[in-house]
Amino acid sequence: MKRKKISVIGAGFVGATAAHWAAEKELGDVVLVDILEGIPQGKALDLFEASPIEGFDARVIGSNGYGETKDSDVVIITSGVPRKPGMSREDLLEINKKIIESVVKEVVEKSPQAILIMVTNPLDTMTYLAFKRSKLPKQRVMGMAGILDTARFKAFIAIELGVSVEDIQALLLGGHGDEMVPLPRYTTISGIPLSQLLSKETIDRLVDRTRKGGGEIVNLLKTGSAFYAPSAAAIQMTEAILKDKKRILPCCVYLDGEFGLKDICFGVPVKLGAGGAESIIELQLTEEEKSLVAKSAESVKKSIMELKL
Ligand code: NAI
Ligand code: 2OP
Repeated sequence: MKRKKISVIGAGFVGATAAHWAAEKELGDVVLVDILEGIPQGKALDLFEASPIEGFDARVIGSNGYGETKDSDVVIITSGVPRKPGMSREDLLEINKKIIESVVKEVVEKSPQAILIMVTNPLDTMTYLAFKRSKLPKQRVMGMAGILDTARFKAFIAIELGVSVEDIQALLLGGHGDEMVPLPRYTTISGIPLSQLLSKETIDRLVDRTRKGGGEIVNLLKTGSAFYAPSAAAIQMTEAILKDKKRILPCCVYLDGEFGLKDICFGVPVKLGAGGAESIIELQLTEEEKSLVAKSAESVKKSIMELKL
């Protein structure tokens, strides 16, 4: 069987770490692209030289152009500027808009059949931009955020309860901003509802920490933002697609009436398989959850308007 091809655009912290996870998991050959001369080539060669030690078979190539990305199965787009302390994800809109427009054009020209996974912030807005500019079917353009945000929620619950992260199932809706909507009602520990194990006050505290989870890392790092968990999340999506796993994961996708929302890219549970975001799973929400989702959607819509498409 021919190996799959995964291209990662942007060889910075998230991109290079995504390449690392993808190669180590033998998901396919990896092409790393960046505008910085020598950086993608150097990181790719270094990673490939780790393969005899770690024992993985995956070619890793670095480039400043898109020739090597031709006929990629999945393209992960991380190119752009990350935030620094005091900045919101929205502050990145202007600069990242230009970068994403040029990158998407190149990517789609070389790989018209690829599935695009957006990572660049502001995530929901950049996913919308990529969807509109690429003109690809909505199933083939998606953004990574919900897996990262639920992973943070799960990590905090695991610490609080002193249990394995593996036993925690959680769901989250909404945009990748501080108004994201973690759903404690849909969170269980080996099937046990979270509300049976933690008080409302504790759950509220963990929800709040989750909402501010990106900022917590930015304030610690000072020079950039999170990259281990974000890249692992993008690779979980890639694996679900390349292995046609039909996983149910929260991803940012284009909505056309689902959850009562139209013409927006927004985080919802989707089935991920070879066709991309094959279907969207709608949930029954309480009035309170609905109003939180509406608030998050309003701020994503506002950001999308700023694209002036
Ligand atoms: P970074 O600064 O380490 O890497 C970005 C890379 O993009 C740089 O190497 C830069 O040279 C490259 N780049 C810039 N313009 C380019 C172009 N036109 N073509 C190709 N490459 C280009 O930043 P990092 O930490 O990797 O973050 C990347 C993006 O991902 C940021 O916008 C960040 O906010 C976002 N992010 C989103 C997350 C999410 O949950 N969706 C989580 C973590 C980061
Ligand atoms: C995060 O949540 C920066 O969006 C990125 O860590």
